[in-house]
Amino acid sequence: MEQKLQSVVNTLTKKKKPRVVVLCGAGISTKAGIPDFRSPETGLYSNLQKLSLPYAEAVFDIEYFRKKPQAFYTLAEELYPGKFSPTKFHYFIRLLQDKQLLKRVYTQNIDTLERIAGVKDEYIVEAHGSFATNHCIDCRAEMSSEELKRQMDDKASGGIPRCAKCKGYVKPDIVFFGEGLPARFFDLWDDDSEEIDLAIVAGTSLTVYPFASLPAEVEANAIRLLINKEHCGDFKQNPRKTDVLALEDIDEVAETLARLCGWEDDLRRLVET
Ligand code: OAD
Repeated sequence: MEQKLQSVVNTLTKKKKPRVVVLCGAGISTKAGIPDFRSPETGLYSNLQKLSLPYAEAVFDIEYFRKKPQAFYTLAEELYPGKFSPTKFHYFIRLLQDKQLLKRVYTQNIDTLERIAGVKDEYIVEAHGSFATNHCIDCRAEMSSEELKRQMDDKASGGIPRCAKCKGYVKPDIVFFGEGLPARFFDLWDDDSEEIDLAIVAGTSLTVYPFASLPAEVEANAIRLLINKEHCGDFKQNPRKTDVLALEDIDEVAETLARLCGWEDDLRRLVET
């Protein structure tokens, strides 16, 4: 493993002002206690029987939500941010920011753990949205998170947040299947994709588009590092000679990388504070 990571370590420590982009998914948060989606047995999609869905991904499908919002809100109770803490890998991203190496982190996650780890807004692209803001799916009126939570907790009235204006269902601005990604995702990627020295792809099965196409769009002169239990996406379909594969536990790889870069104490301090 250490030998494999050498080109990555050289880029991080020897190259002048390297530009690092992190592309990540649910696997970076499993150590925080949040299940990912597609891991067999432990993933959310194989544990949704209690919601009686026609197919697992319906829980994040906008047309299904219009008819049966209860399924999403049952899951939202479990996933709502506030009860989880960042992992070592989240703090590794923060360390990249502190060392002025981080160009951007594109995350598919809605858990906001990058923010909680101290990564600043300007560096984060929440490609699949987040729980931070909420809108009515009919008239688009905004609802505060306090009000959304109040209505979720009001089980006597059904626990489904409803718009004060039109009584339509309200949902957090998480990107559902059938909805577009935020403009910020496309706007920033246009420029970022051309200015990358190292792309760290971590904790994603690379199955949901357009996010899954990002690694293929990283220019050929950049190094791509995949940290994931499974070999997937463009790393498998179109491998490049300079690709680095770390098919192991993400937090362990973060620790190893920090040690090889001489940042072990910096990472430990962040994790402990
Ligand atoms: P997936 O569940 O599809 O993939 C998670 C990946 O992380 C898998 O390849 C796991 O093997 C890997 N993994 C999990 N824990 C790990 C660990 N500790 N160490 C190393 N690897 C680990 O999650 P995403 O790719 O993020 O969309 O899913 C993409 C989108 O599908 C999500 O954003 C969500 C979902 O439908 C929406 O909610 C709109």
